[in-house]
Amino acid sequence: MGKREALKTFGDRINLPSLPDVVLRINSMIDDVNVGLAEMGAIAAQDPAITARVLRLANSGYYGLREQVTSAEQAATVIGARALRNVAMQVSILQRYEHLRSVPDFDLDELWGHAVLTARLAQGLGETCYARTGLAPDDYYACGLLHDVGKVVMLEGVTDAYVECMRHARRTGSTLHKAEEQVFGFTHIEVGSLLASQWQLPERVAQAIEFHHGPTAALQEHPHIAVIAIADQIAYRAGSSTFESTIEKLGRLAESLLGIPAERFARVVELAREAEVSAMG
Ligand SMILES: [Fe+2]
Ligand SMILES: [Fe+2]
Repeated sequence: MGKREALKTFGDRINLPSLPDVVLRINSMIDDVNVGLAEMGAIAAQDPAITARVLRLANSGYYGLREQVTSAEQAATVIGARALRNVAMQVSILQRYEHLRSVPDFDLDELWGHAVLTARLAQGLGETCYARTGLAPDDYYACGLLHDVGKVVMLEGVTDAYVECMRHARRTGSTLHKAEEQVFGFTHIEVGSLLASQWQLPERVAQAIEFHHGPTAALQEHPHIAVIAIADQIAYRAGSSTFESTIEKLGRLAESLLGIPAERFARVVELAREAEVSAMG
């Protein structure tokens, strides 16, 4: 039985969530040349939590504005359509799965912290190799944010079995995706990529999610997959004792697969060194 078939047998328990209307509408407007950014911002303004986050991002040091923006409409023109979609998606997903905070032996903050760090690293790497991959840096942010989202979807659907699977992986030192495959016959990568397709994100976003754990041939053939796989590994090692040696290897990989010079790579990696990343930050 293939993984997608195995996933279908869980169909009634693994519920792929739909995005809130506000996020769907923003997403559907991204490629519409007749829709302006202010109009998209006006949609975001309907949701107070999204508005607050959009304003915070637009007024952050990253954009270096002289004067504060005070409306979602203005903020949208500063950050752009894809970043607006990302913020809306991030706020919605975090809210949607907040209830999993009470699951034993599961650290929701760690999962989102990892997702956001991977997103920022992928965006940083994506900026340096845009010519080669042609995927917008903000789409890389979406890939990073969602690459492991299949874990929370599975955890919500089959909570006890998934907690047991996480414990099993920890006990045996196995990677979680291998343990998932043994227990369920499919993994968070299939769930995540199905979700990205269902949410009408670009096909390459779904593909990058699907292959972020390999195989190596997929990274060699498709630079956008290599970006996410490398960002995931940097984020995964951040704060660990093997960080420096892993970074060296990943740097060589980024240079050979993506043409990213060592200095640029080092600058992106600084993010992981500084990051006390919080999904709400
Ligand atoms: Fe993963
Ligand atoms: Fe990951």
